[in-house]
Amino acid sequence: MEKQTVEVILKMIIKDVKGYMNYDEMKMLYDRAILATLPIVEIGAYQGRSTAVLGLASEMGNKAVVYSIDHHPEYSDGGVLFGPQDKRKLLRTILHFNLERIINVVNIPSYGLDVCRIFSDGIGLLYIDGKHDYKSVMRDYIKYGAIVKGDILFHDFTWDGPRKLIKEFGLKIVETAGNLARTEL
Ligand SMILES: C[S@@+](CC[C@H](N)C(=O)[O-])C[C@H]1O[C@@H](n2cnc3c(N)ncnc32)[C@H](O)[C@@H]1O
Repeated sequence: MEKQTVEVILKMIIKDVKGYMNYDEMKMLYDRAILATLPIVEIGAYQGRSTAVLGLASEMGNKAVVYSIDHHPEYSDGGVLFGPQDKRKLLRTILHFNLERIINVVNIPSYGLDVCRIFSDGIGLLYIDGKHDYKSVMRDYIKYGAIVKGDILFHDFTWDGPRKLIKEFGLKIVETAGNLARTEL
């Protein structure tokens, strides 16, 4: 896709889908997801802003299936109220951008999946943006990170939970955009 077209589509997602990723973060996520050859896993979809980015990138790239994991529990984080009402909007986003073939919506908590069985060949890209407290981020990182063969990206990496995880596990930040970090061990 032409550079200009990607820009137009990402801006359309920003306009149409409520979320907290900015353009630069979305572009960085897009540029990495387009390279994935194994399944892409997103933890935390909300109303689907990042989900749409991952789906569109994968369609333009290697057509790796995107697993978007979110059970939409009711809670508040960073001043935002999350809950079941977001599920309908997530599904609408996926349909609006014609991504239903490439995106698998997984309505189960991230910690409830048998990841080794589901992703037996490994994960091509892991995007962690669920709950941001240390315990939750660590649980997601340990469970999924072990089978990632490509990138691991953290949103809100300057927040306490992800920041502590990155430090304590000795992850190297190799690229950032806004509050999105791509890491390596
Ligand atoms: C910050 S939002 C995600 C934002 C989204 N990535 C975007 O681009 O707009 C966090 C989401 O994580 C979900 N979540 C929280 N804990 C989770 C868990 N253990 N497994 C899956 N999803 C979870 C919440 O329901 C919420 O929708």
